[in-house]
Amino acid sequence: MVFEKDFLDKIINITSNAAIACYPHLGKKNKVLVDKTATDVMRKNLNQLDIDGKVVIGEGELDEAPMLYIGEKLGTGEGPSIDIAVDPLEGTNFAANNLPGALSVLAISAKGNLFNAPETYMDKLAVSNDVPFDATDLDFPIEKNIKNIADCKNKGLNEITACILERPRHREVIDKLKKLNVKLKLISDGDVTGALLVTNKKYNIDIFLGIGGGPEGVLAASALDAFNCKFQGRFLFKTDEDIKRAKKMGIKDLNKKYDLNEIVKGDSIFCATGITSNELVNGVKLENGNYITETLVTHKNSTISIVKKEIPLLD
Ligand code: FBP
Repeated sequence: MVFEKDFLDKIINITSNAAIACYPHLGKKNKVLVDKTATDVMRKNLNQLDIDGKVVIGEGELDEAPMLYIGEKLGTGEGPSIDIAVDPLEGTNFAANNLPGALSVLAISAKGNLFNAPETYMDKLAVSNDVPFDATDLDFPIEKNIKNIADCKNKGLNEITACILERPRHREVIDKLKKLNVKLKLISDGDVTGALLVTNKKYNIDIFLGIGGGPEGVLAASALDAFNCKFQGRFLFKTDEDIKRAKKMGIKDLNKKYDLNEIVKGDSIFCATGITSNELVNGVKLENGNYITETLVTHKNSTISIVKKEIPLLD
């Protein structure tokens, strides 16, 4: 199935509307309220689409509703069968504190083409598309990945920049990167953006790595696919409950390393609207009675662009 342009436009409107809904709650220190607001708007908008949709990447399971939960059916039921990956508010801390980097994110594909993943952590690796796919691997020592990237790019190790979430769990790898004299970009949250910084030289990120949310990994992969960048991910199942859920979803090999083409297949659409600004997109602005939004759109079969929308302020 190949998505048409007017359908793409509807998806851009959904993340734009979710981002706009967050605007009054920015910097109000209420993570729960701003997250719920984005979720409610995204659900309402998705339910108006003529699709037979199902959430494959969401926020928890049915018992954790009212978030958009894995398995939730969306749309009018009249139309194509669609897999949906949602993160209505990626970077809840950023939105609650009015800091750069909050996004509203949605990816869709035909049924069966997006990985059906449990909400657990994922070890991730994303690399720019000027490095051959086999030059880096989640299973290589970090030193080998960095040296291979430097060789492929004809750069010194001190000219390589690695982006990673600043977390105690990354202490060892960060120490190794420091020893290699690699430049670090340590992010406090928002690893969908972190992974997407490998997509363009202007962001100056050669490799994104480390452990973050699994749903965020699948979402990033669906965009990286359109950029022909490398992505690998391995889910991490810590508790018995995690393992039980994974098995229920049909994951047999719990240590499997997934390449991008196993996470997303066929045509897909990815939209990330800025709630607050970051390197990728500007956040929501209110100008002369209109909300202005910016959305990073990747449509595997046609386009990669930043789409600006002007949406009138209602009331
Ligand atoms: P939320 O918007 O759900 O808070 O996620 C923010 C985030 O930084 C993600 O981008 C990242 O994948 C995840 O949290 C990392 O999780 P943790 O904060 O537990 O390390």
